[in-house]
Formats: sequence, C-alpha cells, structure tokens
Amino acid sequence: MDWYEDLNLWSGFSAVLFSPERERQAAEIVATSPLLAFPPNSRVLDQCCGVGVFTVPLAHQGYRTTGVDLHTELLERAAAVCADAKVEASFVQADVREYVAPAAFDVVLNMYTSFGYFEDPGENLQVLRNAHDSLAPGGQLIVDLLSKETYASWVGPPKIVDIPGGMVVMRDTILDDWSRYRTDWTMVRGNTAEHSSLTCYVYSATELRTMFEQAGFESVECFGGWDGRPYDGEATRLIVRGNKVRTA
Ligand SMILES: C[S@@+](CC[C@H](N)C(=O)[O-])C[C@H]1O[C@@H](n2cnc3c(N)ncnc32)[C@H](O)[C@@H]1O
Repeated sequence: MDWYEDLNLWSGFSAVLFSPERERQAAEIVATSPLLAFPPNSRVLDQCCGVGVFTVPLAHQGYRTTGVDLHTELLERAAAVCADAKVEASFVQADVREYVAPAAFDVVLNMYTSFGYFEDPGENLQVLRNAHDSLAPGGQLIVDLLSKETYASWVGPPKIVDIPGGMVVMRDTILDDWSRYRTDWTMVRGNTAEHSSLTCYVYSATELRTMFEQAGFESVECFGGWDGRPYDGEATRLIVRGNKVRTA
C-alpha cells in the first residue's frame, strides 16, 4: 500500500490535519480571500477534500461544490458536517489520478498540500490534466501548497504540536536533492506512540508553473498568501492559479 492509501494516517492524525483551528482558518479564508471570490453559483470541485475543511465553507458561500477524495470514511465525515451546517455539497469517492468530469466545473481547487503525492511524476501531472479536462472553458485551477522556497525557511529541528490528550512530534527529511521530502509523525498519547510517514514531491514556484503549462493552463500566476500578495521572500504559501483557455 502506498502511504496516501492508508486511512489510519489521515484519520489517526486528524487532530493535527483537520483541527478545529484549521476549520476556523479555512472558513475565514473562503469568506475573505480575493482568490476565492468566484461568481455566484460557480461550480467548484475540491480535489482531495478530506473531511471538507474547505468544501463546507465553499458550499456555505453558495457555490455548487463537489468534494473528491480517496477515502470514503473522510467523505462521510464531510457529509455529516454539511448536514449539521445545513449546507449542500456533493461528494465522490475517487482517485484524483482518474477522476475527470468533462467541462463540469468553473473552478477546481487543490488545497493544503494535497499535491505531489505520487512517485511517478507523470501521475502528478495527470492530476493537473484531469483538473483541466474537468473545467469549462475560462475556468480556473488553484493549487495551494508548501513550496520548496517556503519549506526551506522552516525545515530543520523536529517540531512538537499539542493535541487534545497528547502531542505529535514532526520531523522532516529532504530527499533526492530537494526533489522530495519525507515527514515522520509520532503521536504520543498517554503510554502509546503511533508512527506514520509520508513522502511527497516539493515544487518551486517555477516548477509548478511549468507543470500547469504542460497540463494546458494559460495566464499562470503565483501568489504568496490568501490575501493575494506576491510570491516573494515574505510568502507563507505557494498558491498557483491558471486558466483554461476560453473558446472563441
Ligand atoms: C493533506 S489532506 C488535505 C485535505 C483537504 N484538502 C484539507 O484542506 O483539509 C490530503 C487529502 O488527500 C486525499 N488523497 C490522498 N491521495 C488521494 C488520491 N490518490 N485521490 C484522492 N484523494 C487522495 C487524502 O485522503 C486526504 O484527505
């Protein structure tokens, strides 16, 4: 099994990955970011949506939102949150390497470093191609991740994150001449320790821009934060946006 297929990783480390603090931040980003202000009723696809941290506030804004994820259990959690919040969204269990809904969306989002998971570089490019094919002409793809440049500013000693009843120790290792990294997580609760690790590609802005162009996107732009700031030395994230060409 590849690491991203392991449900225990995503649900076991939920307290860090899908924390109430992240939900609050995502709701604020969706409500305020100029990058996420789409025309009313836009059809939005949230690739790798997990438990719906972004899907739910997007649906709350009135967008016609669909979340896709590999893990049914995470999608069920997302659907339950939607039901509680009385908002409507659709959820599809699928692998993003395969999921395509031809021209069905105005916006495709890939949020919170959910990109670069596949060992074969062509499969990561395929995810962008699938986004492109799923967009109507004039539609846009936004990918949000920790880039090579932003990662370089904080990678180093292990970090400890407190969670209810314990803590998670996180250690990052750079691999293959800065092509990829491995993150090792150890969750300590009482007398038990649980370990998981994941290995991803890490991209510079230039590398990701080139992949967008290879997938067919034009007018590709990079941003350094959800307020739309430039991707410069102050950037906290890499957010790349590209458009599918409008037909004449
Ligand atoms: C870091 S989490 C981010 C989830 C969500 N975007 C968020 O902001 O909370 C990455 C998600 O990617 C999903 N995932 C991993 N591999 C996948 C694949 N091949 N196809 C679809 N989803 C996948 C995982 O199940 C997980 O929910």
